[in-house]
Amino acid sequence: MVFLGEELASSFQLTHQLDTSARAQVPFSATPDGVQGALRCRPRDGILTENARVEGWKERGYTWPPSYEPDEEGWKKIFERRFHQLERIDIGKSEDMYNRKYNGWLSAVTSAFVVPAFTDKGWEIRRVSDEVLEGLRKELKDGLEEGRTRLELGNEIIVEEGEGESQLPPLFIDLPEGKGEEVLEHYRGLHEDFCGQKLVGAKCYGLRVYRNGSRLLMHTDKPNTHVIASILHLGHDDDCEGWPIVIEDYEGNVNEVMMEPGDMLLYESAKLYHGRPRPLKGSWYCSIFSHYYPEDWDVENFHWESHYGVPPHWADFKQGEEERELASLEVVGTALNEPECEAGWEGLKESILWENRDIACR
Ligand SMILES: [Fe+2]
Repeated sequence: MVFLGEELASSFQLTHQLDTSARAQVPFSATPDGVQGALRCRPRDGILTENARVEGWKERGYTWPPSYEPDEEGWKKIFERRFHQLERIDIGKSEDMYNRKYNGWLSAVTSAFVVPAFTDKGWEIRRVSDEVLEGLRKELKDGLEEGRTRLELGNEIIVEEGEGESQLPPLFIDLPEGKGEEVLEHYRGLHEDFCGQKLVGAKCYGLRVYRNGSRLLMHTDKPNTHVIASILHLGHDDDCEGWPIVIEDYEGNVNEVMMEPGDMLLYESAKLYHGRPRPLKGSWYCSIFSHYYPEDWDVENFHWESHYGVPPHWADFKQGEEERELASLEVVGTALNEPECEAGWEGLKESILWENRDIACR
């Protein structure tokens, strides 16, 4: 058993932010109990020792195996497999692997049972056709034509195929001052209708222009503020082959959704693993991302719940029959990748393809 000794662990810097695509930092609250030692979050997060964390786990009544949320067979199946994959990660003496393994657990428990589910399926597509969409599409067109783009660098969950200069990180077209807030407010009702909650707008990102070879690794968004989200597809170059967004659901399916400009994917973003693990084949592909949280959400403290949800045995290495048969899991920042599988995600082998948007649309 790998034990998290005070001495050993005090040097480890555990990251917590669950979605590096959302770079804006939430001002985390102070130390919950003031105890210094084993388990560290980011600076400003406060410090939580492993002992205090495990106490919190017990106080909250967590168990292992956990009570899944939702209590659906397919959902459980996804996470039983994922937890076995996490158990198979061997930390050895590596600080880096230690951090990766913890962050993998943190992300998985947050999704599997810490964050509540608000809808039956977790996602849906709606068709948007209004003046705000047209305004955003004009921003995209003008931004590209006038070269008002900047490189989006340093986002570790977006990876590019190719070597050196042939790698093309995404471009960003910044919206005029106040436009993001306007978009958030304009589509807030649509998101409320989707999840049945009164929502507060957290952040609208855009416009991100992915380029040839881009992949967005499978991840969930940070649960303090990015609880309900949408991806509004604005446009792509004529040379683009279909580039599905991949999203899991509460029935245990892996869905591949092809979007047309004006399609909005609404989804429970802190719950459902999502990404674009297949490489983009085409010149560019652009969307805008809106994030909300329920009105009664504990924005300041919700991240602590994720830490308390990680079971005491998280650092143990286990490789019984069950673990041995699984594809290995790599934790990249806050994302997950299965490097032995095509496009880094085994679930793609049996995915459900949604390309006729009339099927998925409401
Ligand atoms: Fe995301």
